[in-house]
Amino acid sequence: MKTLPDFIHEFVPGISNRTLLLLHGTGGNEQDLIPLGRELDPNAALLSPRGKILENGMPRFFRRLAEGVFDVEDLKQRTNELADFVGRATQHYKLAANQVVAVGYSNGANIAASMLLLRPEILRAAILFRAMVPLVPENLPNLSSVRVWIGAGRFDQIVPASETKHLVELLRGTGADVTIRFLEGGHEFTRDDVDAAREWLTTLK
Ligand code: MLT
Repeated sequence: MKTLPDFIHEFVPGISNRTLLLLHGTGGNEQDLIPLGRELDPNAALLSPRGKILENGMPRFFRRLAEGVFDVEDLKQRTNELADFVGRATQHYKLAANQVVAVGYSNGANIAASMLLLRPEILRAAILFRAMVPLVPENLPNLSSVRVWIGAGRFDQIVPASETKHLVELLRGTGADVTIRFLEGGHEFTRDDVDAAREWLTTLK
């Protein structure tokens, strides 16, 4: 566990230019997605921060008012804080700033989507498991050089298909190249999600 620069985080060096930014779900921590990151890309560096918000003792990346109802002002502030951390961490660990790929699950996928919309310079691509529409920005960024893979669960009780479709439309409206997969499963991501995301990642140059 490291405390610099300014989020508790785990860092695992890689042997390629790519960095996977691993963003856990509610109640997770910086260790949770390390095995997933290694499985998705055995060569990438892994940067895995712990969300700073505590909800009944459970770490999250931003506040919510109820399940699926976000505190948008807090989300904006936390998105900028996380984006700044990624910028500082790439300098600190001497990583390629233009090769950062977010891998987020649930709450982590939501802040990754928010970062795409509010801080478009940070991410080259994103893998979003069970993501929602985090916010709709006043001005859409130009994400025409960004690729996004979204894994949705057909039986997800938290993220209905309509929400996923709204997110896909929003991101496509920015020019992003969005791949959407609906998988047999609920809010937890599955082996099929991981296999499909890993396959997609091999097509990312
Ligand atoms: C969120 O709060 O980001 C979503 O409701 C997903 C969750 O973390 O449960």
